[in-house]
Amino acid sequence: MTDVRRGMVVTWEGVDGSGKSQSIPIVADWLRGAGLEVVVTREPGGTELAEAVRELVLHKPMDALTETMLAFAARRDHLKNVIEPAAARGAIVLCDRFTDSTYAYQGGGRGVAVETLKSLELMVQGGMQPDLTLWFDVSAKEAERRRSAARAPDRFEALDECFFANVIAGYRKRFEECPSRFVRIDAHMTPEEVIEHVKGVVASRVGV
Ligand code: TYD
Repeated sequence: MTDVRRGMVVTWEGVDGSGKSQSIPIVADWLRGAGLEVVVTREPGGTELAEAVRELVLHKPMDALTETMLAFAARRDHLKNVIEPAAARGAIVLCDRFTDSTYAYQGGGRGVAVETLKSLELMVQGGMQPDLTLWFDVSAKEAERRRSAARAPDRFEALDECFFANVIAGYRKRFEECPSRFVRIDAHMTPEEVIEHVKGVVASRVGV
């Protein structure tokens, strides 16, 4: 195992129904087995305050700008109290969703202006960006098929296929804008193939 000199932040992104979250505990166990400290967390959420915000964002009616500002407020608390301290002590942070979700859902899906997102991002994060972002890319049709087989939908999951097509387009734009940070994972593959691809990408970036 190569020495990891500093912590890393790896984010998992994709539309609801992409199956992105399934690989997180598997990758976490595998990295821990290699002797690394791993912190698994999620957005919105990851702290008591941010989890309370998550409940609001997922279940209470609100307009798109309110949704955006709540996502960033939760992110600020999460960054200050969990992500930054963990990365500073050398841990690998695996985060289920981060700011690319806000660009995809509130920007692509809800139509919030990119300039608004950029200024909130700068205010909340300064220059902080994840070291690696895995984008689980799946068609809107396949994501819809998978969502309809799953549990009761939250506010986002109840939206129509057109909303999710816009979210996917939002992710694609981010992917094209930040090619060195993003890796696209073809989420149409079998779960086993997805895990193998994810492990290979993480291994090459983390150095295990
Ligand atoms: P998700 O992470 O998919 O959790 P679960 O698997 O429990 O449904 O759900 C979080 C939802 O929040 C998802 O629909 C995307 C949405 N979301 C935003 O709209 N903006 C954001 O900035 C974030 C982080 C999430």
